[in-house]
Amino acid sequence: MEVIIRPTAEAAADLVARVIAKDLRANPHLVLGLATGRTMEAVYARLVRLHQDEALDFSLCTTFNLDEYVGLPSGDRHAYRHYMNHHLFLQVNIDLRNTHLPDGPAPDLEAECRKYEELIKRFNGIDLQLLGLGRSGHIGFNEPLSALHSRTRVKALSPLTLEQNRTLFEDPDTMPRRAITMGVGTIQESRRCLLLATGAHKAGIIAQAVEGPITSMISATALQLHPHCTVVVDEAAAGQLKCSNYYRWIFANEPEWEPFR
Ligand code: GLP
Repeated sequence: MEVIIRPTAEAAADLVARVIAKDLRANPHLVLGLATGRTMEAVYARLVRLHQDEALDFSLCTTFNLDEYVGLPSGDRHAYRHYMNHHLFLQVNIDLRNTHLPDGPAPDLEAECRKYEELIKRFNGIDLQLLGLGRSGHIGFNEPLSALHSRTRVKALSPLTLEQNRTLFEDPDTMPRRAITMGVGTIQESRRCLLLATGAHKAGIIAQAVEGPITSMISATALQLHPHCTVVVDEAAAGQLKCSNYYRWIFANEPEWEPFR
């Protein structure tokens, strides 16, 4: 795992967008794993700008989102399909047929989860998986006690996640209590993971995710086992990291990061 600390949330999102853009330019057929949440809005805004200003081309890439609420029709403005269309897909030249999210209203949820796993395999796996971090320590919607080898399945949302995300619903009582999410094992199989967390409210959980013991109580700790995982934070979210000066030194001196400094 490597940790990159940027001065502001904007600079952190900018770096994440530039890493995605670099990979997409190197491989136009990239299979990109996508995440939702407030933190990602800044990343998608930058990708849209790169598409408009620098002709970043999405026409050949395929995307798989991490998760979707159970039961919300895809047209519902709280559904992650709506979020993705709004923040990214309809603003760039991606073919909507190449964009995949679990089907929240599917009548047979178990079959839907199996189908999603098979589809990812058919595309030969995910090249680059973008991740946010929930306050419960979840990646995707892998809530506490998610098995570290879990696959795509239905997960009940934890009280902390319900509290964190209910403010996005005008009527909080309509927020679904379950979601379909890629499993921790599914995420671990992507060739590269890129996690973004910003803001002081993420400082405690990012320190546990990066420097704490690996535990199914905090699914993001499983990323410590991933062979190629980059964690990008702003100064505020880096506030409780014990080895921050070490991470800063690496970023300042690694030739690989030169174009991003
Ligand atoms: C939701 C998503 C997670 C994401 C989290 C972060 O819960 N299912 O994949 O990591 O949001 O949310 P935010 O960026 O709003 O803090």
